[in-house]
Amino acid sequence: MSHYPLLFSPGQIGRLTTKNRVVMAPMVRNYGDDQGRVTPRYLAHMARIARGGVGTMILDAMHVTPNGRGFLHQVGIHGDHVVPGLRDVVAAAHAHGVKIGPQLYHAGRQTKSAVTGAPVVAPSPIPDPVMNELPRALTTGEIQDLVEAFAQAARRAKEAGFDFVEIHGAHGYLITQFLSPFTNHRDDEYGGSDENRFRFLAQIVEAVRGVVGADFPVTVRLSGDEMVPQGLTPDDTVRIARRLEAMGVAALHITAGNYASYTRGYLIQPMAIPDGPLIPFAQRVKENVGIPVIAVGKIRSPELAEEVLQTGKADFVANGRMFLADPDWPEKARAGQTETINRCIACNQGCISRLFEGKDVWCTVNPETSREEQFAAAPPTASKMVLVIGGGPGGMAAAKVARGRGHRVILCEERDHLGGQLIAAAAAPHRPGWEELRRYLMGEMDRLGVEVRLNTRATAALAQQLGAEVAIVAIGSAPIRPAITGIEHANVITARDLLEGRATATGRVIIAGGGCAGAQTAEYLAVRGHPVTIVEMMGSLAVEAPMADRELLLGRLQQLGVVFRVDTRIMSMQAGAVTVEHPGGVEDLPADTVVLCLGSTPVDGLVDELTRVVPRVVSVGDVVQPRQVTEAMVEGALAGLSC
Ligand SMILES: Cc1cc2nc3c(=O)[nH]c(=O)nc-3n(C[C@H](O)[C@H](O)[C@H](O)COP(=O)(O)OP(=O)(O)OC[C@H]3O[C@@H](n4cnc5c(N)ncnc54)[C@H](O)[C@@H]3O)c2cc1C
Ligand SMILES: Cc1cc2nc3c(=O)[nH]c(=O)nc-3n(C[C@H](O)[C@H](O)[C@H](O)COP(=O)(O)O)c2cc1C
Ligand code: SF4
Repeated sequence: MSHYPLLFSPGQIGRLTTKNRVVMAPMVRNYGDDQGRVTPRYLAHMARIARGGVGTMILDAMHVTPNGRGFLHQVGIHGDHVVPGLRDVVAAAHAHGVKIGPQLYHAGRQTKSAVTGAPVVAPSPIPDPVMNELPRALTTGEIQDLVEAFAQAARRAKEAGFDFVEIHGAHGYLITQFLSPFTNHRDDEYGGSDENRFRFLAQIVEAVRGVVGADFPVTVRLSGDEMVPQGLTPDDTVRIARRLEAMGVAALHITAGNYASYTRGYLIQPMAIPDGPLIPFAQRVKENVGIPVIAVGKIRSPELAEEVLQTGKADFVANGRMFLADPDWPEKARAGQTETINRCIACNQGCISRLFEGKDVWCTVNPETSREEQFAAAPPTASKMVLVIGGGPGGMAAAKVARGRGHRVILCEERDHLGGQLIAAAAAPHRPGWEELRRYLMGEMDRLGVEVRLNTRATAALAQQLGAEVAIVAIGSAPIRPAITGIEHANVITARDLLEGRATATGRVIIAGGGCAGAQTAEYLAVRGHPVTIVEMMGSLAVEAPMADRELLLGRLQQLGVVFRVDTRIMSMQAGAVTVEHPGGVEDLPADTVVLCLGSTPVDGLVDELTRVVPRVVSVGDVVQPRQVTEAMVEGALAGLSC
């Protein structure tokens, strides 16, 4: 019997029988071509997921008209030219018995004219606070055209062989904009009462069903709570859900939030939000309808997924990011190998932050995501002796892939533990994912048989003695200590020494540098009772943190009473104080401890000597240029692949 009996029991969505209750949530990957067509890369990515045990795949939000596009390289369903590519994706899913459907959408005001190439449109001329572009109100004629565009998109979906379509009525896109009094201020038949605001979605459902036939399953995604004043509430969603059920919709998929409430962390839940925060919204709908309900949102363990089903809170469980982190997670869970699952750590760096920057979606913990073709095409190779130097994320990612390719891999780490800077990254509150990643990677070293040598500082002599044919240098970076007067004082420590337990802070603390690491260090100290002031030269703090993480972190710091001194430069440090300069003048700030968070510089010195004795030397991660775990893991994995 399966370890998760309900999760891996067949499900029913209208006439469809799914092989289990695991659903891949829709996620724009931005791997399409400039005509919105499927590319070989997109196909390889979806085929990889299809073979990992998922029961149902909901593909990316696909724009039904060119002006509904939200991302430049989004796959669309806005013209017949996309159908052949979509057919290939359907075939890849069906080859593994997976049911598959696209998500039909229009971004409305949650896009930019630079992306759509046309004016942004919405029910009412109210700009989205994230996009900050004034939309033009749609005319009734245009609304009718859009209803027809959804119907035509559904026709294409059926022609491509999809099993169902999902209509995207969530996340503040055009359909939500009509449903919600927050964005719909119209006074015609599409605005005002519940019924009027529902009209656009009702007409879409009717038109879609008219085209695909009453027995072709149509599902709808709704935000259970929009989480904005005057926005849709759980009560509103229940009323909408009942109407949709009455219209013959086959299932409801319950998420939350919109762009305006994005930074509250409910739309794409960050690390700081506990698992499963949206389950109550799904449960609320489930209690009020008879059709299947799909729950979603940071349901990262098969245990939690099974519990959602066992307690009757939903009928299916959807996962988005878990499929980027580990496409095989359903099969591993079914087989009882839960500890081998590479869990999404909700860092939001590789996936959604990149997407919001207009880039393609990666995954921090899984470098193979988005590079499926490259990994599949790597030619077999004779076994080599590969020396990996440095046991941080870059080194462990390299060792994992190199060992997976059959090489003998020795990983040397000069400290008595693995993880590199992951230890410091995980130290502050609300950052458990970095420790989860460290543990996963250490587990992989064990499982794969990487020979880990702790307390071993690698040198060229050691590489020669081991007969290394390839050396992968992943020795990371060291904290910057700029030439500020007084920096040599004993009360000046680095954040890394503090967070890794090699140094302690006393009394009032000044954090020098208000980047992401500085802000985290402030929280680490503030929760331990230290009065903390962050001094930052630039005008704002933690700018490199993902959007929701940043807002949540700064909110917590304010609650903890951390003082922010931006546009402020440290001039000197002395016992008991630091002297700072800001637009108002020069000032002494009291400080018993100063913690340096002023960035990092690559550790150097090893590569030159290695090159003299090892045929091939590759550097990866922070030693190339200090960046983030995401880049270190990708570079490490690609170095491992190239061995
Ligand atoms: C406080 C803090 C917070 C951070 N927060 C984030 C975050 O939120 N998101 C993010 O993506 N990144 C974050 N980072 C940055 C991230 O941790 C680094 O970019 C990443 O760890 C770099 O990985 P790496 O493998 O290249 O190097 P490292 O993690 O530095 O690992 C290098 C390893 O090499 C070992 N080593 C060095 N020389 C030798 C030698 N000669 N022989 C053997 N071993 C050697 C070191 O001991 C170390 O274990 C944070 C960093 C810090 C300090
Ligand atoms: C990169 C990315 C793209 C997304 N694109 C969509 C989308 O196209 N349509 C949609 O309804 N939700 C989208 N979402 C939200 C997910 O479907 C899902 O609701 C959210 O990620 C939370 O679930 P998870 O924790 O399982 O990832 C996206 C999320 C991510 C991370
Ligand atoms: S990048 Fe981070 S949040 Fe996104 S899927 Fe990967 S681990 Fe999860």
